[in-house]
Amino acid sequence: MTAPAPETFSDDMTPRRLVQELDRFIIGQDDAKRAVAIAVRNRWRRRQLGDELRQDVTPKNILMIGPTGVGKTEIARRLAKLTGAPFIKVEATKYTEVGYYGRDVESMIRELVDAAISLVRDGERKRVEPEAERRARQRLLDLLCPRPATAPARGKSNADAKENEIAQSLEKLWSHALATAPNTTEPAAHEESKPHADDAKTSAKAEAEAAEATYQRTRTKLGEMLDRGELEQRKVEISVEAKSEPMMLGMGRLENMDIDLQKMFERVMPRNSSRREVTVAEARRTLIEQEVEALFDMDKIHAQAVELAESQGMIFLDELDKIVASEARGADVSRHGVQRDLLPIVEGTTVQTRYGYVKTDHILFIAAGAFHRTQPSDLMPELQGRFPIRVELKGLSKQDFERILREPQNSLLRQYVALLGTEGVQIEFTDEAIDLLAHYADQVNRTTQNIGARRLATILERLLEELSFEAPDMGMGKVAIDRAYVEQRLDAVAQDEDLSRYIL
Ligand SMILES: Nc1ncnc2c1ncn2[C@@H]1O[C@H](COP(=O)(O)OP(=O)(O)OP(=O)(O)O)[C@@H](O)[C@H]1O
Ligand SMILES: [Mg+2]
Repeated sequence: MTAPAPETFSDDMTPRRLVQELDRFIIGQDDAKRAVAIAVRNRWRRRQLGDELRQDVTPKNILMIGPTGVGKTEIARRLAKLTGAPFIKVEATKYTEVGYYGRDVESMIRELVDAAISLVRDGERKRVEPEAERRARQRLLDLLCPRPATAPARGKSNADAKENEIAQSLEKLWSHALATAPNTTEPAAHEESKPHADDAKTSAKAEAEAAEATYQRTRTKLGEMLDRGELEQRKVEISVEAKSEPMMLGMGRLENMDIDLQKMFERVMPRNSSRREVTVAEARRTLIEQEVEALFDMDKIHAQAVELAESQGMIFLDELDKIVASEARGADVSRHGVQRDLLPIVEGTTVQTRYGYVKTDHILFIAAGAFHRTQPSDLMPELQGRFPIRVELKGLSKQDFERILREPQNSLLRQYVALLGTEGVQIEFTDEAIDLLAHYADQVNRTTQNIGARRLATILERLLEELSFEAPDMGMGKVAIDRAYVEQRLDAVAQDEDLSRYIL
């Protein structure tokens, strides 16, 4: 491809480092972490290769197998954040929806390119932002201090009137600016601007020059005030564009439309621009946005995004076990159909997107599924072969729960502490309390349904329900959550199987 894709992934992100990073969020599941870390590193390795060889190295797709709520999705999500690669997560089942023959499976590639576009745009944005800010400032000044339309060719009286008008309006503007910022009074500007308006004898040229000088001075002053942030609340009028997306009759949204048709529609749709009065602060944001857009080289961005998606894209294909077909009847036909449609994409094909053709050969697929009642061997043989790396994620033990509560840097406990902290209530969990919470989670998972770490969420919500409600009325205070506190609120529910089925 033409445009070189920006490096999103640094050289020192070795598998070991990547696993360490994942460790900060996910407890255990070492095999899965290793597998994804190797897969990601392999893409970096591939990019270091010479041209011919690089084409032949295909990614080794991964299949994560494990019960619900043990971290499959979480690993993929964290991985994407860490690598900065274009990433999307799709549920395989979404292509089997009842009523119509699923959604076009190729749409996942279009989604991936969209993700790549926004990554590339973000990068480009950083590059053009200083220039956009500079231009937005100039435009703000144009709005605050419009350039007088000097018209030397016109009749004198006309020019006079015009001149007068400009001088007056500038003066008004200026005094208004001064009024809003009384600390920076510089009356010189006032006095200087007066003689020009009065002196009707001066030649038109001199008048124009004087007006220009006044204008420049005013502009400079306003510029200084602007930079000092003294004009933020002033009102200016800007034009904003509202892109309207057509809702097609029964056709869903634009994304499902044929690509050429879609482009055509966008061209003929009226661009609604309207003028709005806003504060300088708000206008600046809008103007910077407009200038950033104007500075973008869209063709380059599109080409880079396609290249990025092709070489570093990652698709997390969740619920793969749900498209296993046991019989060639009813819903199974549709499931089987999805498998068949998936095959070429995973194998390597070319998909048309609105930004050009995308080759899927080097996109990394990470599939996941509980494979509770079915097995990977129930998938179409060709599809099985496309996921050579199998990793099994283990069910979580009581010890795991304890660590999940304690260790991740955004753990549930930390979240609750922070949330209640906003109300001025400091909660503190004792070790014994955490131990007991993990014990209840484990116990309820055993006696009712095993929903993995998700159980911790329901248990904590129950535990802290009262505090969450009362916190704003409690005033400042510390609450120690100890063994007794936990027992008192959870024991009865946890011991009663029927109750916990509903509540936890
Ligand atoms: N090993 C773990 N370490 C830390 N948190 C975990 C772990 N496993 C699960 N969680 C937490 O539990 C929740 C559910 O996990 P996740 O979405 O990864 O489940 P899953 O394995 O994809 O399950 P499913 O098969 O239902 O999709 C997430 O909020 C996640 O943070
Ligand atoms: Mg999941």
